[in-house]
Amino acid sequence: MKHIISIRDLDRPFIDDLINHANHIASQHFNANSLSDKILALLFFEPSTRTRMSFEAAMARLGGTSISVGSIEASSIAKGETLADTIRVVSGYADAIVLRHPKEGAARLASEFASVPVINAGDGAGQHPSQTLLDLYTIQQSLPLDGIDVGMIGDLRYGRTAHSLAYALSLYRCRIHVISPKGLELPSALIGELRDRGTEVIEHEFVEDIIRELDVLYVTRIQRERFPDSASYFDVSSSYKITTELLENVRSHLIVLHPLPRVDEIEPAVDALPYARYFDQSKNGVPVRMAMLQEVLK
Ligand code: NCD
Repeated sequence: MKHIISIRDLDRPFIDDLINHANHIASQHFNANSLSDKILALLFFEPSTRTRMSFEAAMARLGGTSISVGSIEASSIAKGETLADTIRVVSGYADAIVLRHPKEGAARLASEFASVPVINAGDGAGQHPSQTLLDLYTIQQSLPLDGIDVGMIGDLRYGRTAHSLAYALSLYRCRIHVISPKGLELPSALIGELRDRGTEVIEHEFVEDIIRELDVLYVTRIQRERFPDSASYFDVSSSYKITTELLENVRSHLIVLHPLPRVDEIEPAVDALPYARYFDQSKNGVPVRMAMLQEVLK
């Protein structure tokens, strides 16, 4: 049984195969009935637009069915049921479970109680491996994955997409440039792990200092919902912004990515520049998740 909980569970051959598979799917090479006997359970206990809808769209494109429970309030968790019990029950209804949960470690715990594969669709400030797969997929559409310079800007402390992506980039010997407001740096344990793996991680105070040397700029939102209080959020909100001026004289092949949703960290005028790839990136969620579902449900 194949759970996908952390990007650390996946090795490079698996990821490369999955990207190839997603490329085939994107060029319309897939069997639209391949999952017609399968049911996917979506348990989303935090807000979601892209992740949830692209998993549903992926399942529908492959002829499968999705079932879901609306929210914590609408589920028996509101009556005091444990996650472990919910997962045991849902395992009896579906062939795989996609779980988004506010607590770090929730998906790992769920995998211990599930009798079907669990895909982590975000566990608090932990991991978001399916997002990383579509991030890598989007990068390889324009650039080789090996040895590139990737800037990661924003809330690298609480941003689970950043945690998963940084580790994945270490599989491809990329150089990682991190830029974040004070207090929102990439966790030091993760930086240590990346460096132990031989990955260069370079910290910068200002994006202006490095923007011209980047191949990819990965922008993230400040994860307001993870802050202990709103005062500490307002201390750092709007402290960085990607503007058209910032993107003057950058490498011609630079791509700007963002897992979305954005708040104010990329000004809308950037959307019209050739560097902006974040809407393509979100669209790529469908073929990548189709490939994941075929892998997990085969
Ligand atoms: C991200 C998430 O939920 O971690 N969104 C997504 O899945 N595309 C990023 C975010 O919420 O900032």
